[in-house]
Amino acid sequence: MSANHRPPAIGILGTGSYLPPKVLTNFDLEKMVDTTDEWIRTRTGIRERHIVEEGQACSDLGAEAGRRACEAAGVDPEEIDLIICATFTPDTFCPSTACFIQHKIGNKRAFAYDLSAACSGFSYAVTTARHFLASGLYRRALVIGSEAMSRFINWKDRNTCVLFGDGAGAVVLGEVPEGKGILSEYLGADGEGWDQIIIPGCGSRRPATPDALEQNLQYLEMKGNDVFKFAVRIVGEAVEKALAGTGLTQADIDWLIPHQANIRIIEAAGKRLNLPKERLVVNLDRTGNTSAATIPIALDEIVREGKVKDGDIVALVAFGGGLTWGANILRW
Ligand code: ACO
Repeated sequence: MSANHRPPAIGILGTGSYLPPKVLTNFDLEKMVDTTDEWIRTRTGIRERHIVEEGQACSDLGAEAGRRACEAAGVDPEEIDLIICATFTPDTFCPSTACFIQHKIGNKRAFAYDLSAACSGFSYAVTTARHFLASGLYRRALVIGSEAMSRFINWKDRNTCVLFGDGAGAVVLGEVPEGKGILSEYLGADGEGWDQIIIPGCGSRRPATPDALEQNLQYLEMKGNDVFKFAVRIVGEAVEKALAGTGLTQADIDWLIPHQANIRIIEAAGKRLNLPKERLVVNLDRTGNTSAATIPIALDEIVREGKVKDGDIVALVAFGGGLTWGANILRW
């Protein structure tokens, strides 16, 4: 590589997503826990979410989203060199969900692994894949955010069960013309906030003993108020940091695709970044919080609706367990 070698521009060649057909509405939840449609709608913006069927797992959702992304990109799954699945609700701890997906889409040449950064996983994975591809050693990556959240939710806990849903989104990354694709990113973590979003059991600290299961340690726990305050601050901050050095400002953003956790967090971010409502992408009313899958699902929806035009500036921004956060700025 010569001293003045410029790495190739890497961008999105195609998008795909998949939501399992079964829908759980707020009215269904009213029959399961002490809650109301009105509380859920006004506090979160969520009306319904999709839930996996019996026998369906994270890789089933991810493989379908991945196939659709390959089809949209015009890339045979066999041509993928790298598969990263962002998830914290894997089929199994070993092997990785990415390996299940590789097998399901009929790929044999890629290296494949899972990336664990909770709801920030897709932003982390896109960033990681971008740099693998920019090295010139690999040509095409399939990046998937897939979650079967419903398997890790305590359906008796109204503080969490109303918030989440299942689904997957995917993108194929590859070389794009100079000046397009992923322009910048900003990732961060603060492990001091480890206890704000956690599945405390069934790992190596608290193995899956009858006692751990009795205490419901296999389910997600969240300090909702603390996460809310962190999210409102970090979403705006992460986008501003990702924009720095690109020569772009907030006003250049055509589409802000924020992690879909709570409409109030999204509206607060829009306000801080001075973006009109039409530029904020929102689908959580139909999907709930699908963690690492929210951003690629929302992206796929607006791409398929033909909303994203050539040259548009798209900002992705996520936050989640860890604590973690990430933002990516793209020129379409
Ligand atoms: N139905 C009815 N009442 C409820 C429900 C419910 N489903 N859940 C909580 N309440 C009650 C509480 O018990 C509380 O009652 P109290 O005042 O008598 O104590 C009251 O409603 C208010 O509760 P708050 O927690 O203060 O409600 P808040 O307005 O903060 O909304 C929420 C809670 C929706 C969880 C919000 O804090 C939030 O969205 N936090 C961020 C979550 C998030 O973004 N997570 C993303 C990361 S997740 C990941 O990485 C996996």
